[in-house]
Amino acid sequence: MKRIDSETTRQILDAANIVDVVSDFVSLKRRGANYIGLCPFHNERTPSFSVSPARGICKCFSCGKGGSPVNFIMEHEQMSYNEALRYLAKKYHIEIHEREVSDEERRQESERESMWAVNDFALRHFEDNLVSNPDGRAIGLAYFRERGIDDAMIARFHLGYSLERSSALYDAARAKGFDERFLVETGLCIRTDQGRVYDRFKGRVIYPVHSISGKVVAFGGRTLRSDKQVAKYVNSPESPIYHKSSQLYGLYQAKRAIVAKGKCILVEGYMDVISMHQAGVENVVASSGTSLTEGQIRLIHRFTENVTVIYDSDAAGIKASLRGIDMLLAEGLNIKVLLLPDGDDPDSFAQHHSSTEVEEYLAANETDFIRFKTRILLEDAADDPIRRADVINDILRSISLIPDLVKRQVYIAECSRSLGIKEEALGLQLARIATRKAEDDEKRAARRTAEESIAGSESPDSTSAQPADSGTQDYGAGFLRDYECRVLRYVVKYALCEFCDVEDAEGNLVPMTVLDYVRAEMRRDGMEFSCPLHARIMSMVEDTAATWPQVRPEIEARLAGERRQRLDAAYADLRSQQLGVSAINAREAQIVAEADGLYREALDNAALDYVGRTLCSAPDDDVRRLCTDLSVERYRLSKIHTKHTKVESERDSLIRLVPRVISELKGAILEVMIHRLQTRLKQSDGQGADDLALLREMKRLMAKRADFARDLGERTITPRRI
Ligand code: UTP
Ligand code: MN
Repeated sequence: MKRIDSETTRQILDAANIVDVVSDFVSLKRRGANYIGLCPFHNERTPSFSVSPARGICKCFSCGKGGSPVNFIMEHEQMSYNEALRYLAKKYHIEIHEREVSDEERRQESERESMWAVNDFALRHFEDNLVSNPDGRAIGLAYFRERGIDDAMIARFHLGYSLERSSALYDAARAKGFDERFLVETGLCIRTDQGRVYDRFKGRVIYPVHSISGKVVAFGGRTLRSDKQVAKYVNSPESPIYHKSSQLYGLYQAKRAIVAKGKCILVEGYMDVISMHQAGVENVVASSGTSLTEGQIRLIHRFTENVTVIYDSDAAGIKASLRGIDMLLAEGLNIKVLLLPDGDDPDSFAQHHSSTEVEEYLAANETDFIRFKTRILLEDAADDPIRRADVINDILRSISLIPDLVKRQVYIAECSRSLGIKEEALGLQLARIATRKAEDDEKRAARRTAEESIAGSESPDSTSAQPADSGTQDYGAGFLRDYECRVLRYVVKYALCEFCDVEDAEGNLVPMTVLDYVRAEMRRDGMEFSCPLHARIMSMVEDTAATWPQVRPEIEARLAGERRQRLDAAYADLRSQQLGVSAINAREAQIVAEADGLYREALDNAALDYVGRTLCSAPDDDVRRLCTDLSVERYRLSKIHTKHTKVESERDSLIRLVPRVISELKGAILEVMIHRLQTRLKQSDGQGADDLALLREMKRLMAKRADFARDLGERTITPRRI
């Protein structure tokens, strides 16, 4: 596989029309400047899926899914970024030019290709054994039959059997010309120190592991023997194509159902996934016996926010896994827990119940995770007051991980009821835990910044939000992030928009873009975005804006062509009319003026959209997601009512809005600094030279704050000379 070159990528992104792309899947109706339809990502009766041709973006106002054309295709078709690009290229008949890959890239690429190919061969070999080899049928197929697995599931999960001979696969693969090296590197075969090569999975039934895009990356082999001497499962080792920590068994088969149902069910084993599928519950994946990794969690989060973890009712196992679930909470997922009846695991439960029964059991017995954890731990602690206190702290620690403030408060209220402790007390303790955690994070972040800072830049102190003690305002990492987002939104949407004139050194008025303005303002005060993602987006905006001069001539040429055509048509129309010379002259002037006006406006819009569109289609998931969120209607006042009840567009109001959000960000940074200073003053004894310095600094900050208050009170802030 080669890489799509950047020129082709740009062509594809330019060609992809959001209305067009979405219309292939959703029936759209026009509403004003936009289109709306029923959201394809969740079930709904009234349309909340909005498509904006002007911004090249779609978004569901109910479930939040959507984005640029690439995003939409990725989400809807569950494709990777590159697959989505190829899909769009095909739709728009764009020939894909592939970038020359470097020798090293090619070597790695072809290495991986070879490994996929050999895995693919092995999968077919194992599958084939199950159907046409007498031993395979008598042993492998009989085993799956005995476990109640039907042919449809065998086909769907590509189950197979590895013969009880030490080199059946090896011989078959070699006969087909597969390199021994790749048989060993994928782990299908093992080479002994003596150089003998044999099959890893000999005599086992086979569960292939697919990547999200459906490539076979690994295998699990289960023994059919019941003696304890042999390992129950043998799995493929890590390899260039298999990183266990970023794969989930069954995700490839489950992803559509996960999106459709808006939920992912998490179980432990291969058989659990397959039996649940067979019972008609298809949104199921397995962690394969080990505790979840962050990579796996993020994988789930790509598809849904809602996770239900199923436990068999084995108490020791449950307690061991509570910690792992905290990671899911921290990722912002909504977690529910389901306990199965005594003695059942998901496999046996699904095998012994109809699909309606399974669905009904799920619906009736899912419990919120925090509630579940509280119950389990309290039962354990019984009346022992010390252990109860530990339990409460443990629960609060889980709650403190939840990123959403409102959800945290809801949980505090609930725990207050169930634990019989005042809400204020719990809130206070939560704040303490959060502070301690924030301090740890701060230390870790500081270490990271120190490692990352290359040329000994300014200390991050002045700009990064540092959480302090539990005051009324939450000055945690989220505090500045909101202000930064507001600034970033204008930068992403209006980067190249010339929104005001400033005097240059010679006193000439020159137009200034939003990007230039924000950059200049931030630089002047030594500000940087505290959130790394924001900083990254800012620098991507700058990079993209810098390529505009190269893109511009092409767009100008196209628009000039359109202007020409418009003129020609108007002239033809003019000629067909019976008019006197002076009337013709007057009309001609009007025609030209109109065409020029349209040309300028179109060019203006193209410039305006260029940066936003590019970022909303960026390969980086986080960048693309945030930029899309920032660009959609919900986050902006599309119409601003002025005193004169005239309606102004946001764009016409940039002269007021942009300086305001900048000031607000500066104000917020100031608040954080003041707050931290106050904390330090509170902690000190009020004596000594240090304190004097602190007080002086405080006075300075307070004065600055007053300045800001005044600034913000003014209706318009005129951009200053730069
Ligand atoms: P289980 O022992 O629960 O196996 O391990 P299972 O999937 O229910 O299999 P059956 O029902 O006995 O046939 C759960 C998961 O842990 C991993 C496997 O992914 C398994 O599906 N595991 C377990 C291993 O990788 N190696 C082992 O030795 C055991
Ligand atoms: Mn089992």
